[in-house]
Amino acid sequence: MAKKQENIMEKIVALAKRRGFIFQSSEIYNGFSSCYDYGPLGVELKNNIKRAWWQAMVRDNQDIVGLDASILMSPKVWEASGHLGAGFTDPMVECKKCHKRFRPDHLGDTSKCPECGGELTETKRFNIMMKTFVGPVEDTASEAYLRGETCQGIYVNFENVREAMRLKIPFGIAQIGKAFRNEITPGNFTFRMREFEQMEMQYFVHPKEKKKHFKRWRDARMQWYLEYGIKKSNLKFYEQTKEDLAHYSSAAYDIEYDFPFGADEIEGIHDRGDWDLSNHSQHSGKDLRYFDDETKEKYFPHIVETSAGADRATLVFLVDAYSVVEGGRTKTTESTKEEEVVLRLDKRLAPIKAAILPLSKKFELAKPSQEIFNELKSKWMVQYDETGSIGRRYRRQDEIGTPYCITVDFETLEDKAVTVRDRDTMEQERINIAELKDYLEEKLEE
Ligand code: GAP
Repeated sequence: MAKKQENIMEKIVALAKRRGFIFQSSEIYNGFSSCYDYGPLGVELKNNIKRAWWQAMVRDNQDIVGLDASILMSPKVWEASGHLGAGFTDPMVECKKCHKRFRPDHLGDTSKCPECGGELTETKRFNIMMKTFVGPVEDTASEAYLRGETCQGIYVNFENVREAMRLKIPFGIAQIGKAFRNEITPGNFTFRMREFEQMEMQYFVHPKEKKKHFKRWRDARMQWYLEYGIKKSNLKFYEQTKEDLAHYSSAAYDIEYDFPFGADEIEGIHDRGDWDLSNHSQHSGKDLRYFDDETKEKYFPHIVETSAGADRATLVFLVDAYSVVEGGRTKTTESTKEEEVVLRLDKRLAPIKAAILPLSKKFELAKPSQEIFNELKSKWMVQYDETGSIGRRYRRQDEIGTPYCITVDFETLEDKAVTVRDRDTMEQERINIAELKDYLEEKLEE
């Protein structure tokens, strides 16, 4: 079973490369460890996921607004947040001979370097913030950090946003953006990287109301994955123990997904208390307390955070959608294979919504096919594919999760209609070209 599961991960990684979802960064230079690039289909999928998140968090909630803060911030932010202290560190041992570093909990019983057999140092803690230099002089005065979590950009803008948007507690600020961590043991494809993207929402509440909001957001975030088709049996909550909790957090639930390499965290819902606003008040000298006009109470709002990884979500949607049909399903074509892959992505997330497939490259079919392409492209991401047998082209689209294939054949010239094939049922319907847009609209938004 374990072997088979590993195999699935290998197949997904291979598909991701072959079909342009995800590539190893700097591959022509033998790659750059733990960084990945999203290819033409990957960027569409990831953008659709981010859009779905933005819809659920910002657009669907009158009391949540968006933000896009910069990656580089005053280094004082990270002193105040505790990220430069012991809280944001990983334990590591170093080989005295080859100087490679390892996490002690990943070494098992061995006390020697797994790479060269050298002697290992005692366990030390290494800070995982990524340092850089801002300005032309590389001295300590110009040191800065690439943000380790996006939410700090929200806390330092708490007052700006609240005032500009005239917000009253409870309210939320949401943001999507890159974060960086010098992870000691990155791995499992895009699961743990050194550069990744977060989708975070910070909900500011009265301390007495915190429990209620925490529960509401915890459940809402689980529901979001289900709503977009992730199988319930692959998702679960993990309540963090005192030992698990991050330095800023007093309670937390992880949403875990059952990956082929084991169940692991894809999102955290954290009770951050007043840790962030009170520390930023103290370090900046600016009073970040909230004044309630009605009750005349002045207090530090508590924060309920929902923190998801855009890359982990993308990986989850890919893994969960990946299905293999043994024996193949396109039996009518000459190219029937033993195994066919169908990416059963939610239609709203699929990178390409429809493929236009003229049965022949001849001008008489290419012309109406191009016209259909031009008509649909203003509304959806569509693809034009005229190469290979129709069976092969269907399979190519199944493999990237395209919900609908539109075939233009010689009959089209007579009846002004096309055949629309459904990815999941493989049913084919003849639809008038004049009604095609409405038909797809209904199907894609049902
Ligand atoms: N602001 C809270 C925070 O950053 P976290 O649990 O450290 O909390 C939240 O991270 C989410 O960010 C994780 O659940 C995961 O989805 C994503 N994430 C964290 N580290 C990551 C990494 N090295 N690679 C990819 N995603 C990561």
